[in-house]
Amino acid sequence: MGLCWMGLLTMTVKITTLASMLICLCQPTTAKEVSRHASEGVETVAELARRCGAGSGCGNCHRQLAQVLHNARVLQAEARSEDQRSSQSIAL
Ligand code: FES
Repeated sequence: MGLCWMGLLTMTVKITTLASMLICLCQPTTAKEVSRHASEGVETVAELARRCGAGSGCGNCHRQLAQVLHNARVLQAEARSEDQRSSQSIAL
């Protein structure tokens, strides 16, 4: 059983897409997982490493992990702010 070139190309694209979604390769972790941990209160790469292992290997991902954690916090703050504005406008 062999793979045709289209099957091979499709498999390559899927593997490449999966790899690009991973932030930490030592402890395979996606940005979505990091965002979830951020929403549960994780604020630093050290906390994230203790919690799920992401960033506990070579350290090459630390900058990206910190960026995703930061972005998640900013989005959460914006969402809270929007909620407050909505509840204030309803109260008026
Ligand atoms: S890639 Fe994340 S610790 Fe190595």
